[in-house]
Amino acid sequence: MTRLKGKVALITGGASGIGLSTANLMAQEGAKVVIADFNAEGAREAAENIKNQGGEAVSVFLDAGDEVSIKEAVEFTVQQYGKLTTLFSNVGSTNLKKDLDIVNVDLDEWDRLMNINLKSVLLGSRFAIPHMINAGGGSIINTASMAGFAGDAVRVAYGASKAGVVNLTKYIATQYGKHNIRSNAVAPGLILTPAAKNNMPSEVLDIFEKYNALPYHGEPDDIGHTVVFLASDESKFITGQTIQVEGGHYIANPTAPDFEQFMKMAQQ
Ligand SMILES: NC(=O)c1ccc[n+]([C@@H]2O[C@H](COP(=O)([O-])OP(=O)(O)OC[C@H]3O[C@@H](n4cnc5c(N)ncnc54)[C@H](O)[C@@H]3O)[C@@H](O)[C@H]2O)c1
Repeated sequence: MTRLKGKVALITGGASGIGLSTANLMAQEGAKVVIADFNAEGAREAAENIKNQGGEAVSVFLDAGDEVSIKEAVEFTVQQYGKLTTLFSNVGSTNLKKDLDIVNVDLDEWDRLMNINLKSVLLGSRFAIPHMINAGGGSIINTASMAGFAGDAVRVAYGASKAGVVNLTKYIATQYGKHNIRSNAVAPGLILTPAAKNNMPSEVLDIFEKYNALPYHGEPDDIGHTVVFLASDESKFITGQTIQVEGGHYIANPTAPDFEQFMKMAQQ
């Protein structure tokens, strides 16, 4: 379990869900991890857990909507462990009450989501890249979403911000590749984080599962393992890409079920 030996990783939103899973898996693979989160107590507990299992971790408060706070989290990482090789920009926010359709989306909420979901990715990279150059290179991984690849009835700001993450990932890869810095994203479909499990009615979860090609839901470790791969040197020739981890939810032509029905009727 040494695929990330020698790496120092800053993980934003690491107190819960996808970030927490990734922090645990990265530590198991030998990385030193800094867990940065709004939920300072949750981040502290997550770091304690890793240490109790023999890993290396510390926590730091982060407000991903605040430029100074992002800079401080990056500087804290370098002070703690002497370098920064790996950045997982994972914080993201959504709001089903205010992030509606084009006509009705609340514009303050649009700005808030762009700030937290997209600008935080820009700023994380802006502050981390000089340290990665000092370290001889690095790997940046950003959390996008399948909502960045398709239209939907609501969440126009969330979808647009995550589409922005997909392309920002390519810009980072283009501009800093020659410094041996890779930049990739992961785009989760629905992932059963504790929050998703607690907040989504079972009927809604059933709808999602029905449209997956695979007969089950995604779990935080499905994303965490992908991020570990992107953080490791196993992926050293992969950059600018977004890996879709979504159970085949978006792979089929949407007319496929109707067409199947039509073919059955035509054969009768
Ligand atoms: N769970 C899913 O189904 C799903 C699907 C697609 C994309 N995503 C994306 O995955 C990422 C992680 O989501 P998750 O499902 O693990 O969520 P989660 O709610 O389980 O965890 C998010 C963590 O981020 C922290 N956080 C939130 N806002 C913050 C802020 N402004 N500053 C610092 N920390 C903050 C929270 O305290 C929490 O610990 C997000 O970018 C989300 O958009 C999730």
